[in-house]
Amino acid sequence: MTTILGIETSCDETAAAVVADAHHVLSSVVSSQVDLHARYGGVVPEIASRAHVDLLTPVVAQALVEAGIEDADIDAVAATVGPGLIGALLVGVSAAKALALVWDVPFVGVNHLEAHLYAAFLDDPAIELPVVFLLVSGGHTMLVHMEGHGQYRLLGQTIDDAAGEAFDKVARYLGLGYPGGPAIDRIATEGDPEAIRFPRAIMDDGYDFSFSGLKTAVINHVRKHPEVSTPDVAASFQEAVVDVLVTKARRAAAAVGARGLCLGGGVAANSLLRERFLDACVADGIHAYVPSRAMCTDNAAMVAAAGHWRLLQDGPTPLDAGGDPNLKLPLLST
Ligand code: KG4
Ligand code: ZN
Repeated sequence: MTTILGIETSCDETAAAVVADAHHVLSSVVSSQVDLHARYGGVVPEIASRAHVDLLTPVVAQALVEAGIEDADIDAVAATVGPGLIGALLVGVSAAKALALVWDVPFVGVNHLEAHLYAAFLDDPAIELPVVFLLVSGGHTMLVHMEGHGQYRLLGQTIDDAAGEAFDKVARYLGLGYPGGPAIDRIATEGDPEAIRFPRAIMDDGYDFSFSGLKTAVINHVRKHPEVSTPDVAASFQEAVVDVLVTKARRAAAAVGARGLCLGGGVAANSLLRERFLDACVADGIHAYVPSRAMCTDNAAMVAAAGHWRLLQDGPTPLDAGGDPNLKLPLLST
């Protein structure tokens, strides 16, 4: 059995988790800083870094206690090295290296995007490859063809705003607060998704996405019709985003002959997206890998799971490796 301590500090969640053999989650502790950032309407990098410094030690201690294991039972320490806020990343990376040194176990640097992908296999480890991943977070929207562990081909990505960014910007405009995704998800249940037909950009063309025009269409509609019902706007906006995401994901899965479709990233916590995604997989007769909501948003169990496969594939990460705010998903070149 390989037991890995995962650490995640790339943005505004301070998280630690203990995972055995890439999918037994022995503990997963997430301390959200959302209250610290809410009054600024978004994440303030300096505040995030300082909060990680305060929170990380107790969060790691809690993860070990909840897992019911001793320090000596940890076989490796994995931490997110990018992409993310550099000050925030360095807190987790430094702590992980220090623990690895003290415990005399390997340190493994983990790509945050790859960690979101591996969240899909925490609940469902019997992976049948190849699969197509729809990765939808605050900073990324991608369709990825996964041929093997660590073997990715990019099929498409957003050419402007990420899906989560669109949720956050539209929610802010509608006065629903931060973070916007959960707020829109909630209020949309009271609205009519057919009330307004918002545009579905580049729907029939390839696997790229564009959400910036949709955001502008929402703003223009509300300016023109100030009396419009906010739940109707939220529901119609959400319908447009989910329609594009699911249509392109199932088309991609069919094109590459994928045996399954996987969902990941914070937006994968969205109720309508989860429902439509599962319906599409049933209709197309392919396996659906949909992580629990807690494993969709930032957490450290996914970091430990991705760390497990990276350690097997690449061995330990040198201790002089730093954080990389712009780290990309490693793609196959041929
Ligand atoms: O993966 P994540 O926790 O952090 C990044 O790596 O970016 O994703 C955060 C994003 C935010 O934009 C947030 O509004 C969105 O995920 N989100 C949601 C929901 N929960 C979180 N979007 C739509 N519906 C939700 N229920
Ligand atoms: Zn994330």
